[in-house]
Amino acid sequence: MKKLMTLWMVLLLSMAVFAPSVQAAEDHLSKIKEKGTLVVGTSPDFPPREFYIINDKGEKEIVGSDITLAKAIAEKLGVKLELVTTDFNGVIANIQTGTVDMGISGFSWTQAREDVMDFSIGYSQETGDNGYQGLLVSKETAKKFKTLDELKRANLTIGAQGGSIQYELAMQATKPTNVKQYGTLDAAVLALNAGDIQAMVVSTSSAEPVVSAFDKLTLLPREAFDLDPENKYAKNVIGLPKNHDNEALLKVINEVIETAIKDGMMEKWEAEAKALSTKAVENE
Ligand code: ARG
Repeated sequence: MKKLMTLWMVLLLSMAVFAPSVQAAEDHLSKIKEKGTLVVGTSPDFPPREFYIINDKGEKEIVGSDITLAKAIAEKLGVKLELVTTDFNGVIANIQTGTVDMGISGFSWTQAREDVMDFSIGYSQETGDNGYQGLLVSKETAKKFKTLDELKRANLTIGAQGGSIQYELAMQATKPTNVKQYGTLDAAVLALNAGDIQAMVVSTSSAEPVVSAFDKLTLLPREAFDLDPENKYAKNVIGLPKNHDNEALLKVINEVIETAIKDGMMEKWEAEAKALSTKAVENE
């Protein structure tokens, strides 16, 4: 009996000694409050969600409905907002490495992404009036195809933003070797306009301002060319690094989203951003 007790005591003692090293992941919310800053990754080439404008003071400014939401979250947390801008792949990388506290970039929810980041609840839907996953082409190319199958059979050279779901959709719309990856959407649009590629997979809501600026280009109609008819990629979410304990932070973020949807602010932010996006300027 005595021997047994000693064994137990040794065991308990060693647990006490080793316990601090089995530390739980740091609470992300406290860390942000300590810093006094919410560091947010974004790829500002995606109107009306995040894009550059020249503001009234003649300065370049990042605006958009995602940015307004990020501001509302920072405000709720009582901290400053710091934006870290990269291309879209960079936003994903910065979330995964924890270089940013969160990333907001019109992220569509996907299972593959949820495996590597934590997600907020959906804050917006890319369906209905908010557009569809479609194809941007020259008006000349548009005349050649009546159906998606016809277009697929032509094995066009198709561009898409690296790391995006548009890239995955491009792989299904042509031979994988005919897919060209671009860092920013602006670069892809310029390549399309120059004839380097024959089509580009886009989220049509973000391509609308582009169509009005490049008169050679047009969107293929939704009826025949919706690349995501089941709306698999329609839900937009905020991504957070998995290397922190995000529970408390996500609670605040989700509350801000819920309130903004309920009181109609989200809709208002989206409408304002859409109006502003006609003033969008090209990324550097
Ligand atoms: N919704 C698409 C995705 O999640 C595209 C997002 C692109 N965002 C951007 N800021 N460029 O893959």
